[in-house]
Amino acid sequence: MNRQNELNELFELLRFQSISTDSRYKQSMQDCADWLVAKFQRMGLTAEKHATPGHPVVLAKSERKPGRPTVLIYGHYDVQPVDPVEEWNSPPFEPTIVNDIIYARGSTDNKGQHFAHVLGVEETLKEYGDLPVNIIFLIEGEEEIGSPNLDPFLKSHAAELACDVVAVSDTGMVGRGMPTLTYGLRGIACLEFRLRGPKIDLHSGIYGGAVANPSMVAAQLTAGLHDMDARVTVEGFYDAVQPLQDWEREQWAKLPDGEADTLEQTGVPKLHGEAGYSALERRWARPTAEVNGIGGGYQGEGSKTVIGKSAFVKLSFRLVPDQKPTEILKLVRAHLEKHCPDTVRIEIEEGHHGPSYLMDPFSTQGKAAQAALQKAFNREPVLIREGGSIPIVQSFKDVLGVDTLLLGLALPDCQAHAPNENFPVENFDAGIRLNRLLLEELAKA
Ligand code: BES
Ligand code: MN
Repeated sequence: MNRQNELNELFELLRFQSISTDSRYKQSMQDCADWLVAKFQRMGLTAEKHATPGHPVVLAKSERKPGRPTVLIYGHYDVQPVDPVEEWNSPPFEPTIVNDIIYARGSTDNKGQHFAHVLGVEETLKEYGDLPVNIIFLIEGEEEIGSPNLDPFLKSHAAELACDVVAVSDTGMVGRGMPTLTYGLRGIACLEFRLRGPKIDLHSGIYGGAVANPSMVAAQLTAGLHDMDARVTVEGFYDAVQPLQDWEREQWAKLPDGEADTLEQTGVPKLHGEAGYSALERRWARPTAEVNGIGGGYQGEGSKTVIGKSAFVKLSFRLVPDQKPTEILKLVRAHLEKHCPDTVRIEIEEGHHGPSYLMDPFSTQGKAAQAALQKAFNREPVLIREGGSIPIVQSFKDVLGVDTLLLGLALPDCQAHAPNENFPVENFDAGIRLNRLLLEELAKA
């Protein structure tokens, strides 16, 4: 298939409005999964759409031939919501190329990245009529909402999914043209709390001073999650945290100045964070507490003198080895209950969570991945950890007993989860090459 056809097919995939968190797009999720199944079948793979209590899983396989390793390639066809949609320079589901960069929701995270692997396999099959390894594609539709149904799916299909290694392109590259092997991911634990004060919104002049304001208490509890050194104050939060290893601190210190790049990419006036660690170390290997949403009181134009009857805060914690997500949620709950004054009532709802991941980048398979990256980009790969989370990766280890090679193709300015998400055509091509080389290297390993 020529390259224009490959791009056209990626564009077809990018046009599906597969927003997993929004129930209005349920049918788009089904349509996108059906499209993938049809694509895999055209390639000559056995492919099926598997229903789950949520969005379907797409599973495709080559014939399992003895005497060669089995490689499972994981990706996700679901995407994040597009708002604020007015900040996009072209419609999020109308893929548009400007200066050889593809703009579309899901272009990087994760359709462009996993589809490059699909096309790599297709090219190899076309050229040789065979593959150097047995292939399983597992493309899910719930990654962006915490993969609630994938873990049970792995368990119930463990025999069918048995493999020697997993490969995933859903992480970043440290820079353009810089091949990157990610050997660790942070975990995540989400939690929302709501504070209820008066039974109705109150006049803030009549009652102010005698009644606690839920918005104010929410702000105090939230601010209280960190001390002056930007360390998380939740009692026991750091107990299980493993220190960074010397070799990784040394390697990361040699990378292009993370701090200057982060200032440039984010536009913040100054960086912030835990004392004693570089910005990269804080992003990749230290745990955090974040506020993802906060609300209460009057949100409209002008002023309104009111004490809103309730307020809410959405929190997420990024976790590192060996913090256990459920344990952390318990600690956070205890912390909030202890520090919440009795002038309001607190309701805590635990959200999705998933563990961190860490593997040895110098294992046989890790070295095969490094060799493939080196050949695909003609440059020595960089070894990093990442701050983002792909919760299912640790489940591959727990349920299938295998490591996951994280061969990211996302650039630092890919705008994942934000307006104008983009993926350079150059990275799409590199992904196709990388897949072909990776399967060869894994077959040799
Ligand atoms: N591709 C990302 C994960 C990622 C991003 C890893 C950057 C490394 C670097 C993935 O699609 C994602 O966004 N995951 C969510 C998971 C969560 C919703 C459970 C995340 O990290 O917020
Ligand atoms: Mn994502």
